[in-house]
Amino acid sequence: MRPPIWLMRQAGRYLPEYRATRAKAGGFLDLCFTPDLAVEVTLQPILRFGLDAAILFSDILVVPHALGQAVRFEEGKGPLLDPLVGESDLSRLSMARFHAGLQPVYETLRRLKKELPRETALIGFAGAPWTVASYMIEGGSSRDYAKTKAWAYGEPESFQQLVDLVVEATAQYLLGQIDAGAEVLQLFDSWAGALDHRNMLRWSLEPCRAIVARIRQSHPEIPVILFPRGVGVGYLDFARAGFMRGLSLDPGVPLDWAWTQLQGRVALQGNLDPQLLVAGGHAMRAAAEEILTKLNQGPFIFNLGHGIVPETPPEHVAELVKIVQDWRG
Ligand code: CP3
Repeated sequence: MRPPIWLMRQAGRYLPEYRATRAKAGGFLDLCFTPDLAVEVTLQPILRFGLDAAILFSDILVVPHALGQAVRFEEGKGPLLDPLVGESDLSRLSMARFHAGLQPVYETLRRLKKELPRETALIGFAGAPWTVASYMIEGGSSRDYAKTKAWAYGEPESFQQLVDLVVEATAQYLLGQIDAGAEVLQLFDSWAGALDHRNMLRWSLEPCRAIVARIRQSHPEIPVILFPRGVGVGYLDFARAGFMRGLSLDPGVPLDWAWTQLQGRVALQGNLDPQLLVAGGHAMRAAAEEILTKLNQGPFIFNLGHGIVPETPPEHVAELVKIVQDWRG
């Protein structure tokens, strides 16, 4: 049996049809908040490659945006936020207009649910609190997370307040996504690997556990996939905690270790290096086949170890999908 396949950032700048829709939308957030266009770009990779799941087109930073923090995306610069500097800035955040601000995202999901064939899964998502808080505090992408760590380590009580607020907002947001049609959820903790082990448990694993607990209360049937990127042997802490149905592996996780230590506890997803999708050819095929050989012995979803990069030739994606779809191992 071949495993299902979808790819992180499957809708994005490597696709000419994405770039065309993106140009029509104006800003990146306009694209996220215009259901007609967000539906269109969500479906582009499904139509082109016949992937097994569609992931909602949006961004993890719509959560701080809906909490009242200014967020913008500048061409070539990535996201820019008006940063939170300390405890007194927490009063700038509010749930009062949270769901109103996210209505277009829910509308996008409702339309996708209607348009997608039944066999294509609809994945909703959010950022995990540590990763989202890092953008809220750094004001954008960061190399060292110095400001976020200074706050988390120096004033853990008020950092906990921020994390609790993001946990609550994210849980409500994901419940809203389920009501709108999401069938599977993924939580992206892209910067979990920046933390030492002790702080990773406190600021990555525990907030994720709190969010998943909220979802399980009312929707125990909805699978949640966690992506604590870069945590190394910390993946074992997640697998042992066991509150998630799936773990998405970054490219650094050894396959033998993953199947002996993790796969008996949770389903696995991943972990092809996105640069192998840029390289294509024999290197890509060999790596994909090794992943299939080792991880398709248990519950497994084929994916990359991180998102598709803009330099990726779409033909390489088509080839990868074919390798997985033809797999009979
Ligand atoms: O996977 C998908 O196809 C769904 C859409 C999706 C986007 N962002 C669209 C996007 C998802 C799931 C995300 C998640 C996201 N956003 C993460 C977690 C995953 C990861 O990559 O680690 C993070 C950290 C962000 C924050 C973010 N958004 C950054 C740092 C950037 C700039 C970097 C870049 O690639 O430009 C974005 C912008 C963004 N989000 C783009 C897309 C397609 C590119 C924007 C554009 O079209 O100009």
